Amino acid sequence: MDKPVRIALISGDGVGGEVLAEALPCLDWARARGRNLEILRLPYGADHHLATGEILPDTAFRELRDGCDAILFGAVGDPRIPDGRHAEGILLRLRQELELTVNFRPCRPLLPGQPRLDIEVFRENTEGPYCLQGTTEPGRAVDLAIHTEPAVRRLLESAFAAAARRQLPLTLAHKANVLKHGHGLWLRVFEAVRLDHPAVSARTMHADALLCALVQDPAAFGIIAADNYLGDLISDLCAAFVGGMGVAPSLSWAPHRPHRCAALAEPVHGSAPDIAGKDLANPVGMILSTALLFRHLGWEAEAAGVEAAVSAALGTGARTHDLGGSLGTRGMGMAIRRHLPA
Ligand code: NAD
Ligand code: IPM
Ligand code: MN
Repeated sequence: MDKPVRIALISGDGVGGEVLAEALPCLDWARARGRNLEILRLPYGADHHLATGEILPDTAFRELRDGCDAILFGAVGDPRIPDGRHAEGILLRLRQELELTVNFRPCRPLLPGQPRLDIEVFRENTEGPYCLQGTTEPGRAVDLAIHTEPAVRRLLESAFAAAARRQLPLTLAHKANVLKHGHGLWLRVFEAVRLDHPAVSARTMHADALLCALVQDPAAFGIIAADNYLGDLISDLCAAFVGGMGVAPSLSWAPHRPHRCAALAEPVHGSAPDIAGKDLANPVGMILSTALLFRHLGWEAEAAGVEAAVSAALGTGARTHDLGGSLGTRGMGMAIRRHLPA
């Protein structure tokens, strides 16, 4: 038998655990089909932090880094911790210290009447203003944004490779007209990487103009590459084209594989405190993120099976409240499970 793939589960906060619970049957289903996977459940999140003071202990981080292959993550963010220190210490730490440079956020129509678009946002996931270096002084505040050539190159090489494979146009979002240093670096690396991909139709756009063009004609876009901050904003906008925050998936990975654990799957949405604990969260984004993880592991049949089950459930009219339906999180999870092939 193959060596087991070890997947760590971190629910986090709010709706994180609710949507993650609906993705777990997909793991059981993959196992029943012969995939050798082991699960490690970890308790980190706001409740654990408030009860114990721990955020993500180093021993747990090392176990994740060296003893797991991937992480399935719910969401973090809790109104009881307004400075977000645990979110930084869990999610941003994992992204940065596992060097998960690429945050892949695909956006495809799920429901009738949605625009026929095929967009993949490639967001740099570790740098820019997320380096969390700054100061607040009387009357003055600074957030530093750091961009480094290796990370920018890894992100752009992954984006160009996807554009070549999928035969989609590539657009780099930037604001180098103002952010001369950081986004100037992005433009230089972009010009270098595009030389290796002469067949890709590639352009750069000022991010402000890009957003207007994207809303006017989303189908004109394919791969959109962006730094951490712009990519965060652009990917939420793209989610709005296909049903909103509840349905958008993401996968982060380390193309250069510096550690055993080189992938983290999580929905694009957050912990949604406004609907937490009410069985209102849509689990589709989390379940589609699990499919992205299966594909990353080379389990194409399982990835396609989960995606087809989501489409089939939506095709029969199964809808949570955010999509105008009446199903709860658990009901929607069940509707999807029913369509997983035997
Ligand atoms: P959010 O994504 O949690 O919620 C935004 C809106 O989308 C809310 O109206 C919410 O009800 C709705 N929504 C989100 N997920 C949904 C789902 N599965 N089904 C139906 N509706 C859903 O963003 P926010 O309110 O700006 O942030 C709340 C907390 O989450 C903050 O602490 C924020 O920092 C954190 N956050 C975490 C992540 C993450 O862990 N990856 C991502 C985004 C925000
Ligand atoms: C996301 C979230 C996070 C981000 C927050 C919670 C730090 O918005 O995953 O998109 O900004 O990256
Ligand atoms: Mn975001």
